[in-house]
Amino acid sequence: MTPRDHLDSYALRAQREGYPARSVYKLKEIDERFRVVRPGKTVLDVGSSPGSWSLYVLRRYPGTTVVGVDLQEMRLEAPQHFTFYQLDILSPDAESVLKTHAPFGTILSDAAPNTSGHAGVDVARSEALVEQVLLLARSLLEAGGHWVAKLFQGSGTQALLKETRAVFESVKTFRPKAVRSESRETYIVGLSRKENL
Ligand SMILES: C[S@@+](CC[C@H](N)C(=O)[O-])C[C@H]1O[C@@H](n2cnc3c(N)ncnc32)[C@H](O)[C@@H]1O
Repeated sequence: MTPRDHLDSYALRAQREGYPARSVYKLKEIDERFRVVRPGKTVLDVGSSPGSWSLYVLRRYPGTTVVGVDLQEMRLEAPQHFTFYQLDILSPDAESVLKTHAPFGTILSDAAPNTSGHAGVDVARSEALVEQVLLLARSLLEAGGHWVAKLFQGSGTQALLKETRAVFESVKTFRPKAVRSESRETYIVGLSRKENL
């Protein structure tokens, strides 16, 4: 089996299991390893479209409420317990819109910029998204809450990890098996938001 066959198997499995994207298996592995979703607590899913991560949480943790936000429209078959906002997480009003659902028990972000072909530009845009989602952890995540953010690794990675360590009791980086081998992406996992920041 070639690496490409292996990657395709995630897409086929997603189709079979009714998920709109293969990225669901990244969150599944992260959640099985770190238990980032806290049953019954509201989850914020940043960069939620087309909807696999939100759907994973709704199916795996029935009764848990998910708030999704993305630049792109999305719809889920089972809209109960799910609220969606089509907005730019970097816009000045994003925090006040999401605040109406706070505090969150978990903040997940699979948000990624459209790749430009220039690695430096893509990395800088990815870092800006992670910075913003970390600000949301400071203002909207409850003490003890968990956080996951996708990052394109580059020159700012160590500085971002340092900033993340200031917010969480424990911080890990993790590359799920479903990440394509040629991708720069990794996930930062922040466990247990500190009480006093
Ligand atoms: C890899 S996809 C997410 C896939 C999703 N986790 C799933 O499993 O279906 C990345 C998403 O991030 C979104 N995104 C990128 N920049 C954003 C921003 N500034 N605000 C909101 N969403 C953003 C994109 O529109 C895209 O839908």
